[in-house]
Amino acid sequence: MGGLATPAVLVDLDVLERNIARMAARAREAGVNLRPHAKTHKCPQIGRLQRAAGAWGLSLAKVGEAEVFAEAGFDDLFVAYPVVGEDKGRRLLALADRVRLAVGVDSVEGARTVAGPFREAARELEVLLKVDVGYGRVGVLPEHAKDVARRIADLPGLRLRGLFTHAGHGYLAETQAGVDEVARLEGQRLAATASDLRAAGLTIDEVSVGSTPTAARAMRVPGVTECRPGNYVFHDASQVGLGTCGVDDCALTVLATVVSVPAPDRAVVDAGSKTLSSDPLRPRPGGHGQVLGRRSRVDRLSEEHGVIAVVEGESFRVGERLRILPNHACVVANLHDRLIGVSGDRVEAVLEVAARGQVR
Ligand SMILES: Cc1ncc(COP(=O)(O)O)c(C=O)c1O
Repeated sequence: MGGLATPAVLVDLDVLERNIARMAARAREAGVNLRPHAKTHKCPQIGRLQRAAGAWGLSLAKVGEAEVFAEAGFDDLFVAYPVVGEDKGRRLLALADRVRLAVGVDSVEGARTVAGPFREAARELEVLLKVDVGYGRVGVLPEHAKDVARRIADLPGLRLRGLFTHAGHGYLAETQAGVDEVARLEGQRLAATASDLRAAGLTIDEVSVGSTPTAARAMRVPGVTECRPGNYVFHDASQVGLGTCGVDDCALTVLATVVSVPAPDRAVVDAGSKTLSSDPLRPRPGGHGQVLGRRSRVDRLSEEHGVIAVVEGESFRVGERLRILPNHACVVANLHDRLIGVSGDRVEAVLEVAARGQVR
């Protein structure tokens, strides 16, 4: 590892594989299908490990990400995002020739835009209606789901496969009990909505939940059929803060060099917001990364500088290399072309972040 130029993003392959195996085992035990969210890593190499461990397909956030993963040989993809636009509909039509495909929708207007090219080609795009179980981002409220689902199911060019949700508000729960409650409601609200829709004569095959903090509990709620955690492959300081995992379960760290120690209480590394991202620590703000093996943390960032607030009793020297546990691993991966796979201190692999930058 001594030969690596810094800053570099390291992925401990042993921890990565253990995280992948654990989540796969959880899903098997809960009797649900695992469709990990690959926007976390955007690496086909990691997607293959997830598939080998039993994932039955992948989730993506963007049509462009799905195109990259289809090209890499993945054949069952769900764009877990309300996709809107006829241009996207045309790209999805091309993609549907090659893979089993579904996309998210949360409005009749939006669904109509992607349906157009499928209707003209006398084909059907499978869609899942996004339901808001409390996050307050996208998705229809459970009480509106029946009406919107019926109108979407009636649109020529679409087939309603099911419902999905993402309980991102779990990241704001300050206690383990709070996360558990979000997870319980995530599963129960979505499963209850699915029952309502079925009672109204709609076909709902898939009931898909998922975020890393809520996955273990939400996937066990009766009626849930699929789970889509993403971050669990790497974990990060926020997952540690939420109690999802321990520091030893974090696979992704940033290797950085101390470039300046201008004062006893301040050391500066060559990893700033362009490397660590400026995402806050969850559930409570608290700096921009934990220095592994030390109590000091990165307290402030500019683009190319990470300023460590040196705690009493610790010291840093110029040239020293540190491993920093970032607040949010998904955005860190997205900032880099490649991740360095390590086992202990040995470099074992280079992981291409192939779907990086696919924002359309
Ligand atoms: C729709 C959707 N599903 C699944 C996930 C995966 O959640 P996590 O990264 O907490 O595992 C996300 C993450 O943002 C998401 O937006």
